[in-house]
Order: sequence, then C-alpha cells, then structure tokens
Amino acid sequence: MNFYKLAQNRQSTRKYLPDPVEKEKIIQIIESCRLAPSACNSQPWKFIVVDDPEIKNKISDSSYGKILRFNRFARECPVMVALIIEPPKMLAKIGGAVKDKDFYLMDIGIVASYFCLQAAELGLGTCMLGWFDEPKVKTILDVPKNKRVALLFTLGYEAGKHRKKIRKSIDRICSFNKY
Ligand SMILES: Cc1cc2nc3c(=O)[nH]c(=O)nc-3n(C[C@H](O)[C@H](O)[C@H](O)COP(=O)(O)O)c2cc1C
Repeated sequence: MNFYKLAQNRQSTRKYLPDPVEKEKIIQIIESCRLAPSACNSQPWKFIVVDDPEIKNKISDSSYGKILRFNRFARECPVMVALIIEPPKMLAKIGGAVKDKDFYLMDIGIVASYFCLQAAELGLGTCMLGWFDEPKVKTILDVPKNKRVALLFTLGYEAGKHRKKIRKSIDRICSFNKY
C-alpha cells in the first residue's frame, strides 16, 4: 500500500470482530514502532500488550466514561495496548527545558502514529484512547507509580465500514514562505 492510500485507509475503528489478532502481527506493529524517530533517539516508550481477555476487559472498562459514555466499544476489541512514557535521555530533557518544548510528548505522538499506520497496513483496526482512568490502568497492569500511561490503543479486525474523512482544507493548514 502506498503511504497516501495507507493514510486514507487508517481510521479510528470503533467496531470490531471477535477474531483474535495473530501474535506475529502484534510483534510486527511493535517492530515498526521500534524504528520511530525520537528526540536524541530517546525512545521514551514501552508497550504493554493486553490479550488476556479478563485483563483486557478490565482495561476496556477503565476507559468507559459512564457519564459521557465514551469508549464503550473498547469492550469489543480482542486486544488492547497501553503506551507507557519512559524517561527520555538527559540530553532530550535538557534540550526540552531550554527550548520550552515537551519533546517526549512529540515522540509519543509519533510512535502512536507508527502503531496505528502499521496496524492498518496489516489489515487491522485501531483507535487511540486518551480518555481512561489512568490510576486504574496502572494498578491493573502493575505500572510503577512514577510512570504515566500516555494512551491506550484498541486493536483488532474491523467490523464497520470506512468513513469519509472530515479534515481542514490544505489552504487552512499550510502556507508557503510565511504564516
Ligand atoms: C491523542 C488522541 C486521543 C484520542 N482519544 C480518543 C478516545 O478516548 N476515544 C475515541 O473514541 N477516540 C479517540 N481518539 C480518536 C480521534 O477522535 C480521531 O483520531 C479523530 O476524530 C479523527 O478520526 P479518524 O482517526 O477516524 O481519522 C483520539 C485520538 C488521539 C490522537
């Protein structure tokens, strides 16, 4: 698949088939994430793959907002993955402080894109979840107290159709030679 086709194809999947995801495909996704760029090559990330159905359901439930009713679909997917923020290299921390930029968050965003795009290329659906009960997820997955869970991903075979993308026009998001 060429890159533009892949970018068109990837979408936030909120309907899943119950079919399990092959371990080789999960490993291929993580392998591509391993190659993602990061400030000072810090690679400030760790992925926890949750494919045990009992633990997975606990994680799904931790992302379900009972009042706003977000993320109910997370119960349907066969696999969830937690993206943990690991400490960046000292040089990246210092650089970030000097330039007043959270480089490690940029790194996390980039690797998250790699995750979703590689999954799409393998015919798998994903959705990034920013809305979840972080303390609960940390307890369930035994994440050390001083670490943050940046995002959860749902992962599995897509049951729904492809939606038309709603995006700003190129004119609104790009200019040449001045703002
Ligand atoms: C950081 C981040 C957090 C997100 N959190 C959620 C979420 O909690 N629940 C959800 O259904 N979608 C979530 N999304 C998906 C966005 O809603 C989605 O990417 C956007 O609407 C564009 O749609 P598309 O991904 O289908 O192209 C999140 C996306 C990002 C990048």
